[in-house]
Amino acid sequence: MKILVVGSGGREHAIIRALKKSPQADTIYALPGNGGIAADAICVEGKATDIDRVVAFSKEEKIDFVVVAPDNPLVLGMVDALNAEGIPTFGPRANAAILEGSKVFSKNLMKKYGIPTARYETFEDAQAAIDYIKATGEYPVVIKADGLALGKGVIIAQSFAEAAEAVKSIMEDKAFGASGNSIVVEQFLEGVEVSVLAFTDSKTVRPMVSSMDHKRANDNDEGLNTGGMGTIAPNPYYTSAIAQECMEKIFLPTIRAMGEEGRPFKGCLYFGLMLTKNGPYVIEYNCRFGDPETQVVLPLLESDLLEIMLSTYHETLAETEINWSDKSAACVIVASGGYPVEYKTGYLIEGLDAQGQCKGATLYHAGTRQQDGKYLTAGGRVIGVTCTGDSLKMALDSAYSAVKNISFTDMHCRTDIGKKALDALEK
Ligand code: AMP
Ligand code: GLY
Repeated sequence: MKILVVGSGGREHAIIRALKKSPQADTIYALPGNGGIAADAICVEGKATDIDRVVAFSKEEKIDFVVVAPDNPLVLGMVDALNAEGIPTFGPRANAAILEGSKVFSKNLMKKYGIPTARYETFEDAQAAIDYIKATGEYPVVIKADGLALGKGVIIAQSFAEAAEAVKSIMEDKAFGASGNSIVVEQFLEGVEVSVLAFTDSKTVRPMVSSMDHKRANDNDEGLNTGGMGTIAPNPYYTSAIAQECMEKIFLPTIRAMGEEGRPFKGCLYFGLMLTKNGPYVIEYNCRFGDPETQVVLPLLESDLLEIMLSTYHETLAETEINWSDKSAACVIVASGGYPVEYKTGYLIEGLDAQGQCKGATLYHAGTRQQDGKYLTAGGRVIGVTCTGDSLKMALDSAYSAVKNISFTDMHCRTDIGKKALDALEK
């Protein structure tokens, strides 16, 4: 089969690495891919959001299967456009991707179907939101732009002044553009976060190994929210009893709700969960694999990813074999200093071999490019350094010792990825 993976980050690199292992995979293309992905796939020029380009390329090259990995093209309807041309895909159609594309939609869906989530109200008017926050008087309070905002559209306000400023910046100054035309104001939840990615064909839902992201830029969860600075899997807080509760109260109800709404969801559904003292709550849904969750989850998959992905399209997921390793995995992101705000790119990355790899780890490239056979930085998150091990500690030790091989100007990584998870295991 000829396969096209749309996207250009570490997540896409991890997907391509897993797909490559399938005996059915002949040629894998990435559009646009990146410097490191080029060692594993044929990179094709274009933008991941350019639906016409992706459809035209898929027809020209007679692509058998397209994996649409990022949120934007899914929300824009890339899968719909490919399916209209008879091209099989992995990923939800636009009317299901709205689960991530609109927080107002997803919150209202959860309320309608009794899926546990933080109490909330939605607003299209800034003054009404501010009046509501004042009347409620509970801090911290969480303010979310309705639409996609590169993971930055969530503000946790500690006081009325901060909350009012957040509402104004989203709704009046349009800090996230049209994504801020509506907002959700919701209750702050306390607990431990878990990411659960699940394959679904709209009828069956098959959760993957759980994971834990580290969203803040600096150690001890300080600094700004980022796309994710590192991940570990499995998440030790996510016990089998909690997994069962999530299946009954969250995963199956969500899939059924989407079906009842005439929005069957096929692809990878990401459940961002908070384990509270009152049980698991949904913080958010994403309509795609997480980044960098994928970089620790897929290395633990022992079955054929391509076969699983095809079965989501053909709605045969219930009969498909999915086995997971009982090892642990850790991914440490090496980033450009200054990310997620301002950073420079174009620095030479030292310590990589010709394939963009280094000894003792698997490197998933997020923001790199190649020039004259060398690898240069080309984004905020640069490389995800991933290792598996018999224990979480072994996986983390290996990942951090491999990080020492890599260097570039202003390189930044967190030094405490997995620490909270290790503490939980030691308790
Ligand atoms: P989201 O983009 O919805 O995942 O939000 C980004 C981050 O904000 C989450 O990973 C949480 O750490 C935090 N967050 C979002 N909603 C809440 C909430 N209701 N209570 C506490 N933290 C939240
Ligand atoms: N790592 C968080 C996300 O992919 O949204």
